[in-house]
Amino acid sequence: MDMDIFYKAAPRPARLLLLSFSFVASIVGIWMAAAPLFFFGIWASAVIIYKSVRDPKSWIALQQDVRNREDVNRFNRFVDALAAGGVIDAETLEEDIEIEENAPLVYTVRLHQFGKTGNQLQKACAASLNALGAVDVEVKQTAPSEYIAVFSPEFPHRILSDTPCAYADIVDDDITIQRLPVGVFLDGSPVEINLESRNMLLNGNPRSGKSVLLSCLVADLARINACHYRHGGKKPIERVIVMSPKILDFQTFEGCGIRLIQDIEEMSAVLNEIHAEAEARKAWCVAHNKKKVSPEDYEAVGGHITVVIDEYTVIKTSTIEDEKGKTVKIGDLIEQKIMRLVAETGFAAISFVLATQRVSSTNMSTNLRDLIAGARCSFATETIESTKMILGDYASEAPCHDITTDQKGVGYISLDGVRPRPFKGAYASEADERAAADLMRGE
Ligand SMILES: Nc1ncnc2c1ncn2[C@@H]1O[C@H](COP(=O)(O)OP(=O)(O)O)[C@@H](O)[C@H]1O
Ligand SMILES: [Mg+2]
Repeated sequence: MDMDIFYKAAPRPARLLLLSFSFVASIVGIWMAAAPLFFFGIWASAVIIYKSVRDPKSWIALQQDVRNREDVNRFNRFVDALAAGGVIDAETLEEDIEIEENAPLVYTVRLHQFGKTGNQLQKACAASLNALGAVDVEVKQTAPSEYIAVFSPEFPHRILSDTPCAYADIVDDDITIQRLPVGVFLDGSPVEINLESRNMLLNGNPRSGKSVLLSCLVADLARINACHYRHGGKKPIERVIVMSPKILDFQTFEGCGIRLIQDIEEMSAVLNEIHAEAEARKAWCVAHNKKKVSPEDYEAVGGHITVVIDEYTVIKTSTIEDEKGKTVKIGDLIEQKIMRLVAETGFAAISFVLATQRVSSTNMSTNLRDLIAGARCSFATETIESTKMILGDYASEAPCHDITTDQKGVGYISLDGVRPRPFKGAYASEADERAAADLMRGE
């Protein structure tokens, strides 16, 4: 395919002047009956016009390509990448594909050729990152056969870090368990967690924003209750249990019905209670001939339960002494209980949200990690291994280890196993937390 169709022409005033001179010379030649001058004028005009039409890039042409060399090269590299990715092939005609460069690294691509798909385009764009000197690309469909590919020249961490996101701005009155807002993506769209028969895993360096994100989630769940009361509900439909050695982070939620647990032995006991509850729900499912507890059954079984566990790493490595003074690895016991609950109670409307720091295979069992299906999220990490613990093979395209810890609330999130996207967590102030707690109390 001839890429000159992307040539952007602009007149060259000097050549226009030359053409006018040649033309005037031929007129003067006639007037003065000077044959050489006449022929020279005619010849020069003809050459300029012929060259402009046949070879627009020649130095004598009336027009020039106004794009600078770098733009042209980048554009051509993009077109080459599309060819390498099969978006353009030997059959492609000029009218089959329209490519427009809207801004450096932003292209509109219209695919009119039969059999060419957006998926193919997405792959070709992803493969062209190096050639274009970009680190990320987002391909969005804007019309039936029209796509916009936006390449980012650098990781978007700085941009997100500079984007404030207040909890009050992203939350509205009708939150559901499938759509719990906790932040925004680069394009401003909300990041929404689904905890219906799903769990969440969250990782990040100390002070990277984990507890703040958990607060947003807890506030969301509290608000669902307010919505439930408005529709005639009497008891909370979302029950929340927060376990953390640093329970002070959640003290604003004290007294609104959310259970806050700091003591490690109490955590262990509560996990037993939850297990008993799960057994009761199993019996309920059998009695009602249901495979699982769905949102419409939440009220009947006594509510959906979310167990939020912050500082999981600390919990996991905790030990206590029994009556005989022997050390008991209570953290390991707790992990086993959680693992059993996560593995066995997917049907029971009980979700786990685990937050770890500097997670590794020693401070969280990889078996437990693999059982957590739903949302996986990481803020700044120290090493790629830590990112991999949470995001697996996606770690190379979700470089959490390149986020600095002062970029608070900036991370990558993968929802239901899809490619992680960079996002900014919302910031819930104490007033936001208090407002949510009041709503849950029915005030
Ligand atoms: N999304 C955010 N937006 C703005 N500031 C944030 C955000 N998340 C965290 N912070 C700031 O960073 C501090 C540490 O966050 P925190 O959630 O306590 O970290 P972690 O639990 O990961 O140790 C908070 O006190 C807050 O000032
Ligand atoms: Mg914390």
